[in-house]
Amino acid sequence: MRVRELLRQSAGLQTYDGDGVKMTRLIGTHELNHVDPFLLLDAFGSDKPNDYIGGFPSHPHRGFETVTYLLNGKMRHKDSAGNEGVIESGGVQWMTAGKGIIHSEMPEQEDGLLSGFQLWVNLPAANKMVEPQYQEFTSNEVPVERWDNGSEIRVITGKTQLGTEGPVKNTYVSPVFMDVSLQLGRPFQQEIDAEDNTLLYVIEGEVSIGNSENTLSAKNLGILEQGEEIKVISKTKHARFILISAKPLNEPVARMGPFVMNTQEEVKQAFSDYRSNRF
Ligand code: FE2
Repeated sequence: MRVRELLRQSAGLQTYDGDGVKMTRLIGTHELNHVDPFLLLDAFGSDKPNDYIGGFPSHPHRGFETVTYLLNGKMRHKDSAGNEGVIESGGVQWMTAGKGIIHSEMPEQEDGLLSGFQLWVNLPAANKMVEPQYQEFTSNEVPVERWDNGSEIRVITGKTQLGTEGPVKNTYVSPVFMDVSLQLGRPFQQEIDAEDNTLLYVIEGEVSIGNSENTLSAKNLGILEQGEEIKVISKTKHARFILISAKPLNEPVARMGPFVMNTQEEVKQAFSDYRSNRF
């Protein structure tokens, strides 16, 4: 089995989005427009209210899925399809925007630490106009695989080697999304579809990847080479990372702001539908 080596890494771009939320954009930049089928990955994290209090007020989406995964704090999701919910540390909100939805994601706190991720997962051309859907799971509903040495794998979607399966269902691109806390010692190994595009973002500590043991340190995104297996070793007493993987769609991407379609005409149509209240 070919073990995936580290292909490239990036520290992303410091930026603001929503109503002044400070964040690091890892995917969705000039340097890295998208890693098929992932269109955007933002990491946010601050204990200064001014960095997050504005949140993400009402805005539309069409053509893909938005995922919020919280590490710390509380966030409220509300959308035009009538879904509403608050997640806390370890919770996930997985929204299929499909043909169009308007949502807001607002911090449900006035101070303290708020940190987590926003991920955009593209939809295949044939499914871009599906009915919107919303899946929400609290930390307690996300299964955790615990190893003897103290390592923990929280599975949001996909399945570990030992069979722990995440609650989020996405049959469009069948992604993997895991939050892995590794202790020194036993490597994290995971078989993965050879054609998948696979990303790893280090939250804490430092890890080595593949048989070459190239290192990736905290707050860096690694893109892995193709292969059938992932192998990650903690180089520090403790390391934590998220693993994101899915098969590429290999379809044209036309994006502008909150809409991601296959052609510019479809993006223009999305703007016009939104302006004429057809969402
Ligand atoms: Fe959004």
